[in-house]
Amino acid sequence: MVTVSSDDYTFQKPQSLKLFEEAKAFIPGGVTANIKHFAPYPIFMKKGYGSKLVDVDDTEYIDYSLSYGALIAGHGHEAVLKAIIKQMIDSGTFVFGTPHELEIQMAKKINELYPSMEQIRFTNSGTEAVLLAIRLAIAYTKKPKIGKFEGHYHGGLNQVLVSINPSQEVAGDAKEPTPVYESEGIPEDQKHQTIVLPFNDLEATEALLRKHKDELAAVIIEPVQGGFIPAEQSFMDGLRKLTEELGILLIFDEVKTGFRTALGGAQSVYGIKPDITTLGKVLGGGMPIGAVGGKKEIMMLSAADKKGDVFAVGSDSSKTSKVVFHSGTYNGHPLVLAAGLETIRLLEDGNLIDRLIDHTMDLRRRLEDLYHSYHIDMQTVGMGSIFNIVFTKQPIKSYRDMWQADTKLREQIDLELLTRGVYVKPLNRYSLSIAHTAEDTEKTVRAHEEAIQAIFHLNTSMKKAAVTV
Ligand SMILES: Cc1ncc(COP(=O)(O)O)c(C=O)c1O
Repeated sequence: MVTVSSDDYTFQKPQSLKLFEEAKAFIPGGVTANIKHFAPYPIFMKKGYGSKLVDVDDTEYIDYSLSYGALIAGHGHEAVLKAIIKQMIDSGTFVFGTPHELEIQMAKKINELYPSMEQIRFTNSGTEAVLLAIRLAIAYTKKPKIGKFEGHYHGGLNQVLVSINPSQEVAGDAKEPTPVYESEGIPEDQKHQTIVLPFNDLEATEALLRKHKDELAAVIIEPVQGGFIPAEQSFMDGLRKLTEELGILLIFDEVKTGFRTALGGAQSVYGIKPDITTLGKVLGGGMPIGAVGGKKEIMMLSAADKKGDVFAVGSDSSKTSKVVFHSGTYNGHPLVLAAGLETIRLLEDGNLIDRLIDHTMDLRRRLEDLYHSYHIDMQTVGMGSIFNIVFTKQPIKSYRDMWQADTKLREQIDLELLTRGVYVKPLNRYSLSIAHTAEDTEKTVRAHEEAIQAIFHLNTSMKKAAVTV
């Protein structure tokens, strides 16, 4: 029997604990990506179907993590599974290592939904997509630095591992944030390549962009910070205008927001045409992928055809050094593209994406009503099929606003939910899929109510009593 103690925020999942101990002997920290870790220990899963995950202790969860948003069709969607198997059987192999037709199909589909992506290259992850986007921007503008916003995440490159989650003590001036590097192992001389900008503050961003315009190749932005804090329209409009005026490329990192805020991503919601866009997650239907696309004249810098490429025997480096290097054994993997194309087809069919967004809004409203009925200051913040639960009534417009939120209560609620069959990584966002049902919403709202009651030692009849948090 799983139990939770609200005093020390722990739970009992014996098989997960056992596997975690075993994993730690061979895998640093017991996890293969640090995002998979949380205290007291991560839960090991063994099965997934539809909106559900099942852990090694045989507990079933409604999954709101969905592999950090990737699984918009839910776990193991039959049509996606069939598309992968069909591709494998029809082609008789897993990967060609040569160009193939699915690459063209996917590039055309992306271009149809994201017209700013005139030409497209595929990668194996969002991180790799960001790498290529930044390299292209530097090659195109011949300027060395990039701007990124405080609180925004763009994967594991040195250039963007800065000021993602800085603490109040070290973050510096809100108008000119101090760059705070988030990893060991970044050479000192690389630590001056990124200017940190304040999100949703156009005036302060403008001042910094003007000050650094001659060295900035690009500004990279999550149009919806962390997938849940939307940029204000006036901020986006201003940023687009400014970057154009100053000769700085605008990179929309839509790895999270692509297909989730709308089929055409946040750029379709804001009506903004970025110079370069990165995609990932949903694009692969749960298989590893990234994509970079943008203006043809920028993307063509990576074209090898006329200028040769680094792999050609006896290649002439006076020519190859003129090409933006981009390669990868698995780029454009046919099984991944088959899964991604089928996922997009599902979303386009019968306006499922609109229903998914309505469903998400319904869950958000129900949760807000529930917490407010207990007089708890809670708000949901998000766009499309992603949102976050934030315990404060202060408006959330930027990373620093999150400092006002009661994260201790949020963590406690999340751990209580894990014992009640609702999976969200503690303190992380909620993503929904087309497999989530109205029954899932009911169960989720009920689990939240039980969590509130357990934490505040209440029962339903005490609902109207004020809860001070
Ligand atoms: C906005 C954004 N960019 C880039 C990445 C990195 O993608 P990946 O984890 O596929 O390398 C992520 C991953 O969460 C992301 O959310």
